[in-house]
Amino acid sequence: MPDGATMDAPFVPPMPVPRESLPGPLGMLRIMRRNLLELFLARTYSSNAIAQRMLGHRIIVVNHPELVREIFVLKHETYQRKSRFMEQALRPVVGDSLFINHGTVWAERREPIAAALHPSGVGAFHPLFAQAAEELAREWERAEAVRDIAFDLSAATARVVMLATFGPDAPAGAAAALARDFAAYQDAVESLDYLAMLGLPEWVPSVQRRTALAAARRMRALAAGLMEAGRPGPLLSAMRKAARPDGQPLMRREALLNEVCMLLLAGSETSANALGWALYLAFAHPPTLKRLRAEVEAVLGARTSPAAEDLPALPFTRAVVQEALRLYPPVAVLSRQATAPDLIRRWAVKPGMTVAAIPWLLHRHEALWEAPHEFRPERFMPDAPKPPRFGYIPFGIGPRVCAGAAFGQAEMTVFLATLVRRVGMRVAPGHVVMPRLRLTLRAAGGMRMVVRGA
Ligand code: HEM
Repeated sequence: MPDGATMDAPFVPPMPVPRESLPGPLGMLRIMRRNLLELFLARTYSSNAIAQRMLGHRIIVVNHPELVREIFVLKHETYQRKSRFMEQALRPVVGDSLFINHGTVWAERREPIAAALHPSGVGAFHPLFAQAAEELAREWERAEAVRDIAFDLSAATARVVMLATFGPDAPAGAAAALARDFAAYQDAVESLDYLAMLGLPEWVPSVQRRTALAAARRMRALAAGLMEAGRPGPLLSAMRKAARPDGQPLMRREALLNEVCMLLLAGSETSANALGWALYLAFAHPPTLKRLRAEVEAVLGARTSPAAEDLPALPFTRAVVQEALRLYPPVAVLSRQATAPDLIRRWAVKPGMTVAAIPWLLHRHEALWEAPHEFRPERFMPDAPKPPRFGYIPFGIGPRVCAGAAFGQAEMTVFLATLVRRVGMRVAPGHVVMPRLRLTLRAAGGMRMVVRGA
């Protein structure tokens, strides 16, 4: 039996054991460098709000659905600006993109990009989900080897966004190159970010900075080349067509490149991450695997992947995706800097101060979820009580909610349904699967699995 679960026993998938108290400043720094999840104390999982001083900065974390609504929906104007860390960490790759922008630039670009990804049009992307899932299934069926499925999934989901952006001529190999460069970028930036947290100025010369900037340059050069070549896909076409009221293009070359790079990252890393956890959870829990395979078998029969019309008939597959997003939200921290003075509960907020919601905590809040650390996909079945509004926010919430949420959910459901019958997998000998939060939530050291055809 893979990795731990018996037929009926509760399945509590990996997380660092919560501490009862925090160590001194040096110990804190060590933890921050290793895994931010270890900073969350046992009592944090039942807190509604936390005000904490960290390295001279005050941070407020809202951890109750009503407070989340207050900050991200009702007071959107004050809290629409992303944190300085996020702005700095992503700028070399995405420039002035809407993802890290605010105010007018964000609002005018958000509209056409959200329209191009609107749920009503997601069916048109379905053949791309099926094509990339099929390519990956074929590769894995032949594998019988240890693979880092986190990397394979990054390449596969990058393939989807590349096809949607650059059209059918986008070369298959470009997706793996992008996934490699982004992994290198993230690794380097996470160390840089740590230097920034220590208050070291940006110009500090370091190997990591050079590595990060070189990876960013390669990613942008790749995207720029593909923008010029071939027939554009629907996402690039929509962005090129977006115009101001006077008919002038909304985005010229540099801005277009920034938004393309943003879509390549925002649209692939997140889905890949969540899919990695969904597969890990399904294969580590035999009752789930059995039920998943039975549902897919009943709907697909001899077909290898679902059509768009099949998705409503796969509620359990979708529930596994949703539960994976609850337990391991790829964007595990939503942080903002206040742009005006405010008061959150009894705490005065000054402009520039960081206010955050942490989906990792909110999704495991003891007052909101029964057995919060247990894997129970049934919670998301249509007949179960609805998850708490503003308490389940894997795609964020409010005006800045993920523009690709419907795209991502459909894509993940197609991948899971396609892969689960075609392959088997178990954790590679000697590898320990453990989530690690630094800039994003990822499996520390990748997700090394022995993969074979089923
Ligand atoms: C499992 C898949 C995904 C997850 C969990 C996810 C999560 C998120 C989250 C949490 C945010 C908001 C961040 C914040 O408020 O600080 C966000 C924003 C965004 N996402 Fe996603 N995302 C996913 C897939 C996608 C896909 C497939 C696309 C596009 C193809 C996409 C495009 C965007 C864009 C454009 C934004 C910026 C929205 C704005 O700032 O107005 N995402 N995503």
